[in-house]
Amino acid sequence: MEFDIAISGRVYIHHQLVDAAIGIKDRKIAAIKKSIQNSIDFGSKIILPARVDPHVHFRDPGFTEKEDFFTGTLSAAFGGVSCALDMPNTQPFLYRYQNLGEKEHIASRKAVVDYGLIVGMRNRILDEKALNRSPALKIFMAPTTGGIVNNLDDLALQYLLNIMMEYGKPVIFHAEEPSYMGDGAENLKEHLKSRPNISEAEAIRRLIKTSKPLHIAHVSTKEGAEVLKNRAEGQSSEVTAHHLLLTIDSDFENEAYGKVNPPLRKREDRDALWNALRNGIIDMISSDHAPHTIEEKEEFETAPSGIPGVETTLPLILAQVKNGNISFERAVEVLIENPAKRFCPQKGSIEVGKDADLIVIDMKSVTKIRAEDLHSKAGWTPFEGMEGIFPLSLYVRGNQVIKNGNFEGEKGFGRNLWMQPHTKPE
Ligand code: NCD
Ligand code: ZN
Repeated sequence: MEFDIAISGRVYIHHQLVDAAIGIKDRKIAAIKKSIQNSIDFGSKIILPARVDPHVHFRDPGFTEKEDFFTGTLSAAFGGVSCALDMPNTQPFLYRYQNLGEKEHIASRKAVVDYGLIVGMRNRILDEKALNRSPALKIFMAPTTGGIVNNLDDLALQYLLNIMMEYGKPVIFHAEEPSYMGDGAENLKEHLKSRPNISEAEAIRRLIKTSKPLHIAHVSTKEGAEVLKNRAEGQSSEVTAHHLLLTIDSDFENEAYGKVNPPLRKREDRDALWNALRNGIIDMISSDHAPHTIEEKEEFETAPSGIPGVETTLPLILAQVKNGNISFERAVEVLIENPAKRFCPQKGSIEVGKDADLIVIDMKSVTKIRAEDLHSKAGWTPFEGMEGIFPLSLYVRGNQVIKNGNFEGEKGFGRNLWMQPHTKPE
């Protein structure tokens, strides 16, 4: 047979939905034709590329009571994500090659979708061997869960960005200036006060002034979105579903479920973020999936910051297409195409030669999000009761991982795309 498998339906190619069939061979898209004999036919359902999520915290090793690489990637799969980039604030903090080997040893046995392990920097140590096997470098400018702060003056920042240009790896910034921050908060209003808008806007201003390529994580303020209008070529940014859909005035079952860094803000910020996303000022959506246990979230003041979201991001935003908040084309661009282009170009588009990572969507199948239906260990979501359009099926490199809403994948199938297979820790 010419192909290993073939699927057909309303396929999203060159920004249009057309009746077509996709032939898959050796885990790649091998052909796109009008029809292919014996293809699995999804009829009028939509076939999109699967999503790359450039910002997740899967907590493994060190905090596996919150999440581990199996539950994290399982949750990703149900959210239509075929590749997730995991952040370094695990235990031990990931910045050395040895830790990368250890984390890879764990992840490679548990992952059900593909992934990359983003490294951080500690005591100004950049480990070249680790960087070479990582999709990006993460810099934390302000205190957040995980405890690492990279204090960089303008000179150090320029120096770092120059080095990173030689490595050809993106640098991702958690952009908040600590000098404006207060401490202690008993509710969302106070949490917002303790990490004010100016803190983010000033950090972004300082970063884009370097004119060097970089990526700004989770933009959350109207001022930040405004400053981004002056970004240089090669400077990109992301926004999360929680900053697009929730504010300090949202209705929470427990306010601590909305405690996150950068904080949830006001409606005017949320509206400005939607505008910036629609107008191309903000390039993509990430989940910043940051699960914590229900017990940890009991008391607002002591609750760690972070919101789980890898499973709900695509469903929530697709439901916003139905509500007319964003066009279908722009939603696909910011959820799927742009994160892949920036961080993982072998995925994120239905083209011959790309990984056969596909999701099947029925835009009519709108459901209510329920924590009990989700697969993260967190067991709670601030999006409880909101509408979502979940993918019915997911293929990763031609393998069916989700079939009609059921898990059909396999632990250990997921590959680290930045590591040679069988790389052993030294
Ligand atoms: C993240 C976490 O819990 O790891 N928390 C958060 O509020 N976003 C850390 C981070 O990305 O800041
Ligand atoms: Zn994060």
